Amino acid sequence: MADSSNGPASFSTQANALLRKNVTFQKRNIRSNLRLVIFPFLLCLVLNLIQVLVNRELDKPSFRCGCTCVDTDGDGKCEEKCGIEYSSMDQAPFCPIPSPPEWPPLLQIPAPQYRAVQADFIPFEDLPSDSCKKTNSCPVTILLTGSNLTLGQSLSASMIPSSLTLNASDIFYSMANNVLGSASKPDVSNFIEPAFSSDLPLYYLQEHCASNSSFSASLPIGPASFEQEISCIRGLNLWRNSSSEINDELYKGYRKGNSQGAINEIVAAYDFLNTDTTRFNVSIWYNSTYKNDSGNTPFSSTRVPRSVNLASNAYLQFLLGPGSKILFEFVKEMPKPETRIRLDFSSLLGPLFFTWVILQLFPVVLTSLVYEKQKRLRIMMKMHGLGDGPYWMISYSYFLLLSTVYMVVFVTFGSLIGLNFFKLNDYSIQAAFYFIYINLQISAAFLVAASFSNVKTATVVGYVIVFGTGLLGGFLFQFFLQDSSFPRVWIIVMELFPGFSLYRGLYEFAQYAFAGTYMGTVGMRWKDLSDGNNGMKEVLIIMSIEWLVVLFVAFYSDQVVSTGRSPIFFIRKKTHSSFRKPSLERQGSKVFVQMERSDVLQEREKVEQLLLESSNHQAIICDNLKKVYPGRDGNPEKFAVRGLSLALPRGECFGMLGPNGAGKTSFINMMTGLIKPSSGTAYVGGLDIRNQMSSIYTSMGVCPQHDLLWETLTGREHLLFYGRLKNLKGAALTQAVEDSLKSVNLFHGGVADKQAGKYSGGMKRRLSVAISLIGNPQVVYMDEPSTGLDPASRSSLWNVVKRAKQHTAIILTTHSMEEAEHLCDRLGIFVDGSLQCIGNPKELRARYGGSYVFTMTTSMDHEAEVENLVRQLSPSAIKTYQISGTQKFELPKNEVKIADVFQAVEKAKSRFTVHAWGVADTTLEDVFIKVARGAQAFNVLS
Ligand SMILES: *[C@@H]1O[C@H](CO)[C@@H](O)[C@H](O)[C@H]1NC(C)=O
Ligand SMILES: *[C@@H]1O[C@H](CO)[C@@H](O)[C@H](O)[C@H]1NC(C)=O
Ligand SMILES: *[C@@H]1O[C@H](CO)[C@@H](O)[C@H](O)[C@H]1NC(C)=O
Ligand SMILES: *[C@@H]1O[C@H](CO)[C@@H](O)[C@H](O)[C@H]1NC(C)=O
Ligand SMILES: *[C@@H]1O[C@H](CO)[C@@H](O)[C@H](O)[C@H]1NC(C)=O
Repeated sequence: MADSSNGPASFSTQANALLRKNVTFQKRNIRSNLRLVIFPFLLCLVLNLIQVLVNRELDKPSFRCGCTCVDTDGDGKCEEKCGIEYSSMDQAPFCPIPSPPEWPPLLQIPAPQYRAVQADFIPFEDLPSDSCKKTNSCPVTILLTGSNLTLGQSLSASMIPSSLTLNASDIFYSMANNVLGSASKPDVSNFIEPAFSSDLPLYYLQEHCASNSSFSASLPIGPASFEQEISCIRGLNLWRNSSSEINDELYKGYRKGNSQGAINEIVAAYDFLNTDTTRFNVSIWYNSTYKNDSGNTPFSSTRVPRSVNLASNAYLQFLLGPGSKILFEFVKEMPKPETRIRLDFSSLLGPLFFTWVILQLFPVVLTSLVYEKQKRLRIMMKMHGLGDGPYWMISYSYFLLLSTVYMVVFVTFGSLIGLNFFKLNDYSIQAAFYFIYINLQISAAFLVAASFSNVKTATVVGYVIVFGTGLLGGFLFQFFLQDSSFPRVWIIVMELFPGFSLYRGLYEFAQYAFAGTYMGTVGMRWKDLSDGNNGMKEVLIIMSIEWLVVLFVAFYSDQVVSTGRSPIFFIRKKTHSSFRKPSLERQGSKVFVQMERSDVLQEREKVEQLLLESSNHQAIICDNLKKVYPGRDGNPEKFAVRGLSLALPRGECFGMLGPNGAGKTSFINMMTGLIKPSSGTAYVGGLDIRNQMSSIYTSMGVCPQHDLLWETLTGREHLLFYGRLKNLKGAALTQAVEDSLKSVNLFHGGVADKQAGKYSGGMKRRLSVAISLIGNPQVVYMDEPSTGLDPASRSSLWNVVKRAKQHTAIILTTHSMEEAEHLCDRLGIFVDGSLQCIGNPKELRARYGGSYVFTMTTSMDHEAEVENLVRQLSPSAIKTYQISGTQKFELPKNEVKIADVFQAVEKAKSRFTVHAWGVADTTLEDVFIKVARGAQAFNVLS
């Protein structure tokens, strides 16, 4: 076996051990890993599939400029012709329009049922009476005001023509001399003014309409020709005393503005302000909110200029007389090339899907951390020398590496299958964003892991967070993002939750990718971060700060929780005095000292002697170690360990016996650094357990009562890991692991390479013992090592412990007297927090024995006779046990001879039936029961 003087494992050795263990562990979890990797691939493929389907749909003829087959030269063969003239109305918007058509400018006319009439909520009597609504012949109203009434009235007179001026040979072009209007809905694109293709009539405004003034005309617009009914409509110019009156009237007439439900719509309203002969100053009310009931609001920009022209024209005529005119003949849109609709679905669904994809790493990290906590593996590793530094470094870098690989694969895959979400946005922004986020996520998992102790709960909570965040993000948070009236501050507050900042970032990528796809440009670039609407900058800042804060808090709380240090541990100075004079303040222990038996007292004196010597070779020295749990809920304080002094050299196995609840576990927990002693201390190899625990761990082995093993790692991998932590390397490590496996009978038949989760209870136990002994630690604690073992395994286990004992101090707790007798050089019986006696098994038996145990079973009727018989043998015999005819007595050795006992039994047999009888020397078990009883009786009395 390798020498134990390897010294503590260096940082890199520990890191290496942990890394190898983690990689193996990950390899084993192949199913969850597969699921983890397949999920994003699946989502990407789904997105791609949707994209392909949508693209195919958009490539259909109804979403592109139309083509028809026409026979141009009459030879019976047709030629494919494309363009706006061969397209349906649906297709037309996609066609190229190199030279757009022109048409006379129109006014927006309210629909007949909405035109302004007299109503009780409006004080003006000059409006038409509402009887006109029945015949759909209501006039349309124009309101005017200004500072000079005379001037205003003369302007108003020339705004609406008094007659129709038409050149019959060219109706379309002479339209511009009249004031045309339409009640049809405007459109976003005005390549063809919808008024001309609408079923609604075109109107021409007139001061008075003759009956029968409608006519129909064919209007050529671009290549098409529209048959259109054109009717006269009366225009009413009404003067108001102030602009506020007009405002009020417009407000009250708005379709949804008044409570009566009445509607009074106005064509346009003019305020001529201070206009006079030298100055034309006018402000015009127009209605831009004509819209479809479906909710989109096309702005009828082409129907506003006509109202401006009306005013200018009137002013020109006021200045120069009715002969002059500002003609506003035609309007037309600018030409455009052929366009196609392109929708990027990865951008539409990306934020939701990718939030899931990236967030799902969170439960992975979380459960992995909680697993080691739930199974107390973290403590187990720590007790075998794994420092906090390497644990944090390696675990963190490991998860970071895992997440990074995952993200790189994901983004690469998404780009390869052609998702614009990834392709259009700058990869360096994506890299920065994802990198900061995964760091934040890992830190958050470390922080949150502290509040979970069960893997199942952690998993469930983790996935609820994943899906919940995605859904809340997609259906609530995004809604807030798009609502520009929602306070930005609250968005920032919501983004403090990492899931939402992730969603926001992905949302911004999606916005840029979508716009980029639609317009055929690129996505987000670094310079776009300064754009006020782009939330990426704030998200990056929030996440970076949060990452550092969360990481610090997580590390800090881990230190507090896992080491039980006080919350201000970094303020306190560490004392590095390795050896301390025994403390003299021992007033509290006096009572116990007095009642302690001489053997326990002797041990205490030995310890005090040893502590005064500067050099000693004891492996363990406990110096009046105490543990008091503070009283809770009105209960008194609980003394778990009441001043234990013990010295143990290397090569000795000390057995600790005691009933349940005697304080053995508290003692072991103090020695292994899980809890702090209330007073007193212990030295392991000269190092103080109060402040040099991390050095002690490197030469310590623990076999806990419950097996702390990774279910998916094999026995060999466990030993390799702990061997590395004990600074074994190369061939020495392989050899040590092999020896260790052989010694606990786990080597043959492939057992060593089976996963520990599939081991039987006994095999797990043996593996735990092997772990505690690997690397030849100076001190080993074994908590009931042979529980649940079959006799064969138990005896082979005992051999292992015996062999290990040669260079190691072992403290062993057990309930098996046989085991104690077999393995231990000295025994201590621990009752109610203190040692009742201490010595080697033979001594104890001699000291507490001194009597024979006589057992006899008869029928119940003869119990009294048996008792008489025993009294005759020895008057001071004690009955220790009696149940349905079976009685047990202790007979003092000095009063009784074995031969007398036999004679007495023969005599008894002749008088009544004896079912069974026996006489035996005291066993360790009897000693144990006696000592335990005695101590408890004392405590009851006191
Ligand atoms: C109003 O306008 C008329 C003619 O347009 C002008 O004669 C008159 O002086 C103006 N009145 C005022 C108060 O400016
Ligand atoms: C009517 O239009 C035709 C064709 O543009 C033109 O030749 C003719 O002079 C016009 N007549 C009047 C009265 O403007
Ligand atoms: C507007 O002013 C004229 C002249 O001052 C006055 O007669 C009329 O009552 C006023 N109209 C309203 C509604 O105040
Ligand atoms: C302006 O247009 C909207 C939408 O068609 C209509 O509801 C509203 O009544 C109009 N307002 C006026 C003052 O005409
Ligand atoms: C136009 O009218 C407004 C409002 O009365 C006034 O503030 C502005 O000075 C006028 N403009 C001119 C050039 O007189």
